[in-house]
Amino acid sequence: MTPLNIAEWQSLDRHYSDTKDLSMREEFAFDSDRFERFSLRSGDLLLDYSKNRITQDTIQKLVALAEAVDLQQWIERMFSGEQINHTEQRAVLHTALRNRSNTPVMVNGQNVMPRVNMVLDKMTAFCEKVHSGQWLGFSGKKVTDIINIGIGGSDLGPAMICDALKPYAIDGMRVHFVSNVDGTDLSTTLQSLNPETSLFVVASKTFTTQETITNAQSARNWFLKTATQADVAKHFVAVSTNAKEVARFGIDTANMFEIWDWVGGRYSLWSAIGLPIALYVGMENFMRLLDGGHEMDKHFRNQPLAENMPVIMGLLGIWYINFFDAQTHAIVPYDHSLARFPSHMQQLDMESNGKFINRQGARVSYKTGPVIWGTPGTNGQHAYFQLIHQGTQLIPVDFLLPVNSHYPECEHQSILLANGLAQAEALMKGKTAEEVREELIKAGYEGLELDELLPHKVFPGNRPSNVLLFPKLTPEILGQLIALYEHKIFVQGVIWNINSFDQWGVELGKQLAKAILPDLKSNAEISAHDSSTTELIRLIRNLRQ
Ligand code: F6P
Repeated sequence: MTPLNIAEWQSLDRHYSDTKDLSMREEFAFDSDRFERFSLRSGDLLLDYSKNRITQDTIQKLVALAEAVDLQQWIERMFSGEQINHTEQRAVLHTALRNRSNTPVMVNGQNVMPRVNMVLDKMTAFCEKVHSGQWLGFSGKKVTDIINIGIGGSDLGPAMICDALKPYAIDGMRVHFVSNVDGTDLSTTLQSLNPETSLFVVASKTFTTQETITNAQSARNWFLKTATQADVAKHFVAVSTNAKEVARFGIDTANMFEIWDWVGGRYSLWSAIGLPIALYVGMENFMRLLDGGHEMDKHFRNQPLAENMPVIMGLLGIWYINFFDAQTHAIVPYDHSLARFPSHMQQLDMESNGKFINRQGARVSYKTGPVIWGTPGTNGQHAYFQLIHQGTQLIPVDFLLPVNSHYPECEHQSILLANGLAQAEALMKGKTAEEVREELIKAGYEGLELDELLPHKVFPGNRPSNVLLFPKLTPEILGQLIALYEHKIFVQGVIWNINSFDQWGVELGKQLAKAILPDLKSNAEISAHDSSTTELIRLIRNLRQ
């Protein structure tokens, strides 16, 4: 089944031909209600999507497409625990992890909520012990440093959130994230640590991920230089689905926090994978994060499609990717503490929708997930914004703007916000040749010099952006923001008729790395590879000290 054959898609195709040159500048000039018309609120979060190349007709047609692919039913199928991840025969229930209403959620005839709550209780009890000093290290000292060892979904989300919620950190608690199998990551982290006060959280859904197990083993070796095997239980805990492997590694399964196969790695920060967050900012703040996620879930499940934030953001993405041929999408937080937000979104989106096979197993003939990228404003303005303003590609941008900062420098915040708003305005408005001419004449230019400089100073404008505005980056707002993007990605997956919840595309590299490793480590004949890989292996063997 291809969306290209749906009448609503074809109607959008025609609409695109009719409106592709529509000028946002003119639309704003003619319609003083454009902001009201094209903005949405969910709790304290505002989405202004008025600076997009849309009319009311566009939104109606996009919503009609969502209706035609039964989006509402898909939403229900996800929330109610159907196995919508069909290639892994799994339900997709990150929403159950933050189901603060505690209504039953059934998987294979069983309500998962009691188990979800049990793990939350276990996390609460553990955090209390660590924070109160009831849980002590082998030499009787309190834990001061949490070191999360995990990768991908078992790292990016929690790392991003700990950065973002630093103002909520428990006094005296530090958190570190080790993910890369490059020994530099672990070694440089260990340099500042004391084994007596360090608590390692080995986070791996499968507990077989090469990077995580290698880092965890090396961390344990480092620990055992000063402590004994019997002390490991006080300094290593695990988060996993795989009790057998956890025990084999030497972690007491009493200190294992359970997750389930119906939680996708990149959607798992809401589960016990969030333990480093709870240890860093306290369980109460972790629950506030879940509350925020749950708020967005209710909005997504209950709001009509045309007033539904994740739906609108997802549909705008479809509009640009499939009709305007946009290849990438930038996420630019004007909040330094959200520096890692784009990286988490990159995994979330690209691992979910980077697919070329549809749900029926056939190759798609249209574009799916875009490249997601971004860094915090204002830094990006002095780096890549040149291309967004004057380059030859259309790059939709999301600006995330917190009105208030957790830090006291008010003047900085005004400058930051002014810059964020200015970028969105500049992308929309651009600067015409006439405006540039006027400016240049005022600045004393004339004749050939003026004519030569003029085209370089023109901004085409008409470049789309969304603004997500919120009062302050609280745990609730952060929860809402993350859930918003999770659902936006799901909306797009439904329209593209792909399974957003598997990730087979990461497997081949893992397999080949396993085959190359023995070749690198021995001097025996190199096994069958292409000539490039074989020669590179040979060179590495020769150059290795
Ligand atoms: O390789 C991709 C991936 O499977 C991600 O989806 C996942 O978040 C990550 O690896 C880590 O997996 P695990 O938690 O099982 O170690």
